[in-house]
Amino acid sequence: MVSKSKVTLLIRRSGSNEESVVEVERGENLRKVLLQQRLTPYQGNKKIFNCHGMGICGTCKVLVFENGEWWDKRSCQIQCFKNLEIQLK
Ligand code: FES
Repeated sequence: MVSKSKVTLLIRRSGSNEESVVEVERGENLRKVLLQQRLTPYQGNKKIFNCHGMGICGTCKVLVFENGEWWDKRSCQIQCFKNLEIQLK
């Protein structure tokens, strides 16, 4: 039985066949979830030099599959209110 207070994230890294399925509380912040799962959205020195979720720098962008298309979005600005398919760059 699927809990109404949880959503499922399917997360892949670009160029890799590995995928992670993560169940999180509805409304959790995607950037926070990714960092907790050690699936950083950042590349290179952006792991250190970023705005820490303020929505300013754009270094936390991931691809999100919605409505049949991939969308480039800042993970720190996404609250997980539904099941999501995510691709890390
Ligand atoms: S962490 Fe800077 S825009 Fe998301």
